Amino acid sequence: MEKDRKILVSGVKPTGRPHIGNYFGAMRQFVTLQDEYQSYIFIADLHALNQIKDAETLRHNTVNLILDYLAIGLDPQKVTFFKQSDVLAHTQLCWIFNTITTMPYLMRAHAYKDATAKGEEINVGTFDYPMLMAADILLYNADVVPVGRDQKQHIEFTRDTAEKFNTTYGNTFKLPEALIIEEVETVPGTDGRKMSKSYNNTIELFATDEEIEKAVMSIPTDSRGVDESKDLNTSHLYSIHKLLLDDTAREKLSQSYKNGGTGYKTLKEMLINDLKKFIGPLRKNRAELEQNKKVALDMLTLGADVANEKANKTLSDVQQKIGLTFL
Ligand code: ADP
Ligand code: TRP
Repeated sequence: MEKDRKILVSGVKPTGRPHIGNYFGAMRQFVTLQDEYQSYIFIADLHALNQIKDAETLRHNTVNLILDYLAIGLDPQKVTFFKQSDVLAHTQLCWIFNTITTMPYLMRAHAYKDATAKGEEINVGTFDYPMLMAADILLYNADVVPVGRDQKQHIEFTRDTAEKFNTTYGNTFKLPEALIIEEVETVPGTDGRKMSKSYNNTIELFATDEEIEKAVMSIPTDSRGVDESKDLNTSHLYSIHKLLLDDTAREKLSQSYKNGGTGYKTLKEMLINDLKKFIGPLRKNRAELEQNKKVALDMLTLGADVANEKANKTLSDVQQKIGLTFL
């Protein structure tokens, strides 16, 4: 039975408070798919080191993110849930991939191009990010990787790397597919750009009622009056709101936009209400988990044991194929 289930791998960096873009784009899928797939979900703390240079901040973010995952319903009985740095094979395999990868190839990465365009000096860890990510995924023989749209290129790098290794050393890795949910591929932030921790335009997943109100009130709208019909395609308010609704409620909301008669003030109040209804229970779960942090952290150790076993098998196979170990 276990053998029949496809394998899912994904991670999120502990770089700050998760927002509803992270949730709808990626994290929710980890929960909804946990029965269907054999899943490996990890906290990408090694990746986060590229951004965070303060031990206390990293620890704090990591513990918070563990509680966040559990609060949204990730079940460590069903999912192998662990911290990337607890599985040394990730960096080992990353190194091996470095030796079959060229610099011009990595220079095609969006992250590299963006940094260069801004005149920044990119650090080696960020430059090499796609190879660590390829290792994260290929160690577990993933079939699918649920991520937001912005990670698509990274999954392509992973597939290319798997193919390159297979061609050089013989068939070893399966080529994973990105699992991107089309309607939530890019959740807009309160300013209309992609919602992102780095843009300061987020609605946090565990926001307080006051934070929800403040964030929604800051969403810009056009100048159409109460009676006028509103444009669904350009309204960030609508793009955010529709994520929270089932088909019937979404249809009803879209009519309120299109028909006119409902002003932006009311539409904002409706969004605030629905966000409170959605976030309230998550916040409650999280507050309960916060009381019992130790149990949560212990779960992570168990997850690391299972992950290590699987990852080390793959690594041994690789080491054999490339000649690091004797027959
Ligand atoms: P951020 O851009 O806020 O730093 P991360 O890079 O930590 O977010 O992303 C974690 C996961 O959430 C990734 O799978 C990413 O694709 C997804 N994600 C991030 N922002 C969004 C968004 N605005 N819409 C959809 N998915 C997103
Ligand atoms: N790069 C992903 C992000 O920025 C996080 C990540 C690291 C990841 N390793 C991964 C996602 C492996 C999926 C699979 O959000």
